[in-house]
Amino acid sequence: MAAHEASPGVVASLCRKLKEPTTSLQQKYRVLFSLRNIKGDASHAAMLQGLEDESALFRHEVAFCLGQRQDPAAIQTLESILRDTAEHPMVRHEAGEALGAIGSPACIPPLRDHAADGCLEVAQTCQLALQRIEFLEGHEPCDPGAPQRYLSVDPTPPAPAATPTPALAATLLDDGARIFDRYRALFALRDRGGEEALEALAGAFASSSALLKHEVAYVLGQMQDARAVACLKRVLGDAGEAAMVRHEAAEALGAIADRACLALLQQYTEDAEPIVADSCIVALDMLEFEQSGGFQYADDGAVAT
Ligand SMILES: [Fe+2]
Ligand SMILES: [Fe+2]
Repeated sequence: MAAHEASPGVVASLCRKLKEPTTSLQQKYRVLFSLRNIKGDASHAAMLQGLEDESALFRHEVAFCLGQRQDPAAIQTLESILRDTAEHPMVRHEAGEALGAIGSPACIPPLRDHAADGCLEVAQTCQLALQRIEFLEGHEPCDPGAPQRYLSVDPTPPAPAATPTPALAATLLDDGARIFDRYRALFALRDRGGEEALEALAGAFASSSALLKHEVAYVLGQMQDARAVACLKRVLGDAGEAAMVRHEAAEALGAIADRACLALLQQYTEDAEPIVADSCIVALDMLEFEQSGGFQYADDGAVAT
């Protein structure tokens, strides 16, 4: 979704909603998605307020949105999040990924400093981000011949569109391959879609990398293909799985919006892991939105009367 202009009144109203203690998590998510799509310093400043939120899930989403906007004004904030080892690893991971998405030279030193971070997911994220920046120095961000169906700024480019599906599947499923190449295969499979691609993506949940698995769940949500529901339900229901993976599985189920997921999402709003419980609350709101046939998951910023 391309960024647009909005009146200062709308941004101020969204910012107020974000800070009000009575605003629910799901309402805050809608506010954040609106702010993300509004150009300018005021919306940027309002998003930074969201980093004060008590929910680690919400803070990670703010960091993600800052990366998607690719506004260099966010670099300093993202760098301090990445360097803050007391912050939740999922928020630090998202800050590292966001630095990679912005991709300017100022993003490189903090990413280098944390490429061997004590938290594996943070370290791998920084390695990916550095490789993305390096790759884009010599290439176009996307294959000019490939149709761009998904508008996200991805942590890596997709593998070349001409790569056969079995070769993409083999790379994705190879625990010994470079994570950068596995990510490239993953995005190429997402872009291709269809049964075979879905099967390969579902197979990647057997991988040992939580980072890779969380991205697989994320792209399954983007694809919004109901054939992925069964494997996403299994991932969400697996208490032994990493919270970041279960989180993306919950939100993917919300995005696919199959009514068969309602009971499961409701059940896990009580999960012992707050990241998972909060994700299910947000997912139920997304599901309701998708089912209502709405135009854009966001808050229009209208001032309540
Ligand atoms: Fe992530
Ligand atoms: Fe996430």
